[in-house]
Amino acid sequence: MTDYDELLRDAAAAATASATLEALGQEQARFLGKNAAVTLAKRDLGSLAPDARAVAGRAINEAREAIEALFAERRRAIEAEARAAQLENERLDLTETIETVRRGHLHLVTQARDRLEDVFVGMGFTVAEGPEVETAWYNFEALNIADWHPARGSFDTIFVDLGAPEEVMLRSHTSPVQIRTMEQQEPPIYIVAPGRTFRTDSADATHLPAFNQIEGLVVDRGITMGDLAGTIDEFVRAFFGAEVQTRLRPSYFPFTEPSAEFDISRADGSWLELGGCGMVHPNVLRNCGIDPEEWQGFAFGFGIDRLAVMRYELDDIRELVNNDARFLRQF
Ligand code: DAH
Repeated sequence: MTDYDELLRDAAAAATASATLEALGQEQARFLGKNAAVTLAKRDLGSLAPDARAVAGRAINEAREAIEALFAERRRAIEAEARAAQLENERLDLTETIETVRRGHLHLVTQARDRLEDVFVGMGFTVAEGPEVETAWYNFEALNIADWHPARGSFDTIFVDLGAPEEVMLRSHTSPVQIRTMEQQEPPIYIVAPGRTFRTDSADATHLPAFNQIEGLVVDRGITMGDLAGTIDEFVRAFFGAEVQTRLRPSYFPFTEPSAEFDISRADGSWLELGGCGMVHPNVLRNCGIDPEEWQGFAFGFGIDRLAVMRYELDDIRELVNNDARFLRQF
């Protein structure tokens, strides 16, 4: 009787050594095919006596089934490895992508402008807008700055080569929006007007030739300097924090009388100038068809970029326009 144990060991070793389905198929033919030991032995059964034939036949069948099982198991193992390798190859590592992509956000100055608008809207103001290219009437004359007025020189205006000489310009402040609003609306008026403004300044640590201002205008009955001071105090606390104080210092602007500059307190006890303000000059009200005997108003204006510089304690205002993503990302 043939000893099938050794055959089974050989078949197991051959199956295990087969790394691919193709190699396994070749080994399987060697152990179970036409010329395999079990096939040949089965063919020879006929020459045996009936008793011996039954015993040998059972042994051959058992060996054959055992070999088939070995190869079937190895086939499943090779297929499982192939599937795992394929999954690994086709896998997309999404975690890595999520880690390296940063979401953008609004520019520092836009954030400051949005917050200012929110604060003033919360105090009952609406937001007004005006054009960036203005005529001398809106930028100067209606604001009580006649063409002989020395204050015109201090604005370093950028003129546009259009129409009569020096009549069209890039607005040098947001104050012309006061005039446009009073022309279009009846009092009571409570507006803020943020927007871009332009002067011939060259850029340095504290100046930009194109910058942003926000203008405020209130026209109503019985408005006093106290309303102005209270409004400034209120918005500064809302924007900078409750511990920050404000003060007004006498100053001069052609479009307000009296005029003041307003400062905010700093942690070290010093004061920082933020902007200008005052009671709307009667001539300005009259220029817009509003009777100064019936209506009074206050106005204020300051730089939004400067405000962002103060709030985030930047060393140089030019950082705001350098477009250095590493800088901007911090805010
Ligand atoms: N327009 C002024 C400037 O650009 C700022 C200003 C001062 C605006 C006083 C006002 C004001 O409304 O009342 O320097």
